[in-house]
Amino acid sequence: MERTLVIVKPDGVERGLVGDIISRYERKNLKITYCNMTRADEGILAKHYSEHVGKDFYNRLIDYMQRGDIVVMVLEGENAIDAVRKINGKTNPIEAENGSIRGDYAFIKEENLVHASDSKESAEREIKIWTGEV
Ligand code: PPS
Repeated sequence: MERTLVIVKPDGVERGLVGDIISRYERKNLKITYCNMTRADEGILAKHYSEHVGKDFYNRLIDYMQRGDIVVMVLEGENAIDAVRKINGKTNPIEAENGSIRGDYAFIKEENLVHASDSKESAEREIKIWTGEV
């Protein structure tokens, strides 16, 4: 079994898409083992997005992620990392497939509704950051 960290970003919560997003993961038979609605502060986001420090979009990304509530989840299942990334669709929503979350509901990279871990290493790192698991 594999685990991955998913965040429904502030635009997903603002637009009332949390239920739709979660049901897509559940329909795929991924199990929710952790779920928390919270507000992210700059400290936790700096850890989470540490690989992007210095990029031109970094400050915009950190501001956006603090704009409102987010829902942080750990999902578990066979090939959970790839399965969730496919359900989410490509980072740039305009390139995301129809039927994916971003393909169905998003238009721009700055507001792309969801985050998901991109490797086993980042999943374990991100799960520790957001759940406090040691
Ligand atoms: S990179 O440089 O290729 O590693 O970046 P990428 O994987 O495309 O994106 C990393 C995360 O940054 C977000 N992102 C942006 N946010 C705001 N503005 C712009 N222009 C922008 N470009 C990328 C992108 O949604 C990724 O967020 P997460 O939460 O990891 O999905």
